[in-house]
Amino acid sequence: MNMPTLQVVPNGPLLRAERVTIDYATERGLVRALDDVSFEVHRGDRFVLLGPSGCGKSTLLHLVAGLEKPSAGRVLADGKPITEPSPRRTLVFQEHALYPWLSLQGNVAMALELQGVAKSEAFEQARVWLERVGLNGFEHYYPHRVSGGMRQRTALARAFIAKPEVLLLDEPFGALDALTRMALQDVLRELIEEHQPTVLLVTHDVDEALYLADHVLVFSPRPTRVLKTFNFTHCEKSHDLSAFAAERKEILSLLGIKTEVAHP
Ligand SMILES: Nc1ncnc2c1ncn2[C@@H]1O[C@H](COP(=O)(O)OP(=O)(O)O)[C@@H](O)[C@H]1O
Ligand SMILES: [Mg+2]
Repeated sequence: MNMPTLQVVPNGPLLRAERVTIDYATERGLVRALDDVSFEVHRGDRFVLLGPSGCGKSTLLHLVAGLEKPSAGRVLADGKPITEPSPRRTLVFQEHALYPWLSLQGNVAMALELQGVAKSEAFEQARVWLERVGLNGFEHYYPHRVSGGMRQRTALARAFIAKPEVLLLDEPFGALDALTRMALQDVLRELIEEHQPTVLLVTHDVDEALYLADHVLVFSPRPTRVLKTFNFTHCEKSHDLSAFAAERKEILSLLGIKTEVAHP
């Protein structure tokens, strides 16, 4: 008798935005934040959403996090509509995301304690993670005593320690000076290489997108639509982005930034 063979179903996208529209009621009537936005993120993608301020990037991340619902369309994780937050999807904000009353170590440990890990074990793992992001010796400092860069290193440690399937990053380095931002981009890149989460990163920084992403989706200003998606899978990247000059120029011009010298 023939035994039934197991059908291997090809993996679908991990995240899928399907014709998402968001309208906000404001004093001046309805504001359309997103207009018919669709995209797919596959497991292991480093997917960047790039667009001008106010185009709806944070809103989109909140939809994926399960914090908001679309006015029309759907956002799916593993084919199922996202209806609420999940520990599988961790959100990292630009700033002000650490608990001011906890030490850096306490902040990182909290991510594990929330998962039921015993405090002593959580604190020991947090120490290792703080060392991993370059904060050895600062475990007992409180967030207000350290620099913005150190706070964001702590936020990255807190995000990665919980080993989320999807990391949602909302302009995590937007408040940092240019050099600190590059150093933090390197920390993030290394952590992504090591732990291979699926990453959905929001930024308005074209170079950050080019450096970190294997897919870049460029949004128009409001009402926000997808202008173009760029794919950079299997590219070697460094902060010298000269190999991506053509894409950089195209993205800037999509965003309405001048890239040619005007001749008289
Ligand atoms: N809760 C809300 N109520 C009304 N308008 C909102 C709300 N949240 C965001 N908006 C508006 O929607 C647009 C998109 O916001 P946001 O997602 O924060 O943009 P981005 O992150 O790209 O800067 C903005 O114009 C913002 O003012
Ligand atoms: Mg935002």
